[in-house]
Amino acid sequence: MSIIPVPRVAIIVVAAGSGTRLGAGAPKAFVGLAGRTILSHALERVFATAEPAQVVVVVPAGYEGEAEADIARVAGERHDLARVVTGGATRQGSVAQGLAALWGDIEIVLVHDAARALVPPATVDRVIEAVRSTGHAIIPAVPVVDTIKRVDGTVITAAVDRSELAAAQTPQGFRRDVLLTAYAAVGQDFTDDAALMQAAGHTVLTVAGDALGFKVTTPADLERAAAVLQPPVSLPRIGVGTDVHAFGGDGTLWLAGLEWPGEQALSGHSDGDAASHAIVDALLSAAGLGDIGMHFGTARPEFAGAHADVFLAETRRLVEQAGFRIGNVSVQIQAARPTFSPRREEAQSVLSNILGAPVSVAATTTDGLGFVGTGAGVQVFAVAALTPR
Ligand code: CTP
Ligand code: MG
Repeated sequence: MSIIPVPRVAIIVVAAGSGTRLGAGAPKAFVGLAGRTILSHALERVFATAEPAQVVVVVPAGYEGEAEADIARVAGERHDLARVVTGGATRQGSVAQGLAALWGDIEIVLVHDAARALVPPATVDRVIEAVRSTGHAIIPAVPVVDTIKRVDGTVITAAVDRSELAAAQTPQGFRRDVLLTAYAAVGQDFTDDAALMQAAGHTVLTVAGDALGFKVTTPADLERAAAVLQPPVSLPRIGVGTDVHAFGGDGTLWLAGLEWPGEQALSGHSDGDAASHAIVDALLSAAGLGDIGMHFGTARPEFAGAHADVFLAETRRLVEQAGFRIGNVSVQIQAARPTFSPRREEAQSVLSNILGAPVSVAATTTDGLGFVGTGAGVQVFAVAALTPR
């Protein structure tokens, strides 16, 4: 475990609101989001800043234990930097409770809404850095994209130039001494600390905010946050393989994993089973592992004369080792002989068993056309789908 230096920065995470507009039946910070609390998402990011900071979590009376559990879940080795305190009746009152819990060495204080649960750690770092380098109050802000009107009831009274507007986010950062002085003197309630500081005559600067800095206020915001956290859907990986072998080998025919007594053999390295070779290429291609020649070529004499069971089992091993599971394989055989349909089920079952995934096999003639039609050889196409394991 690494030694954490004494923090000079504190982040007060205000989570003591009731969440009236969300209306989820619990204080907003303790409402579920992707299987855990909104607060735990905010804290996870706050504990991931470049510089370890004291973290003061301000919660509604009675929720101190739940906040401790969230801290235990996400703080990791920064666990000892966290404190939980009980909040006040207004956001400003809650911030004041957090300020009272700061450690003596703290020089920079950030105030952050738990409801802005997805603010990236980089935004927090940016605010800390800007307070340190300028000494001014700093807030993250994003440009306003909507066209804004001033209204009186339903009547528009003026257009507002949006280039003059910015949407304020949190965390907002301050020099500790300046913020404490402003809080000690404050006589009215402000919606954020930047407003309080500005009213006290201080310069407030902006740094770039982040689209993920939106505040969960309404049920639609909660849906948006859940959508952001949704794991990406992983698409299957598809591969195609083909093979052609001429009739004329020694012994009996092997095709689609089956021996066909009385039928003329196919020629080729191994048993000439063009169906299993096409499947191997499809699987290797889907996994991005090259082709059959790379893995089973003439450089691997141990595969000479081998049947589908050996090739396919080894291919399955390679594909699984590369992190995939076989989804399914579809095979189409073009051949004038043998008549395939009586043994289709048998072939499917043999191949499926080897690969541990459904293999469907179809066969067709080519109406007498081409090398397949003259009976010179067979041609096989295979498509394989893989999913990440
Ligand atoms: N907050 C707080 N103490 C309060 C009121 C608000 O710590 N007495 C916190 C909220 O928990 C939230 C942040 O301030 O993280 C921003 O407030 P807001 O989004 O208004 O949250 P709520 O007050 O909980 O929601 P609502 O206004 O809909 O009731
Ligand atoms: Mg509120």
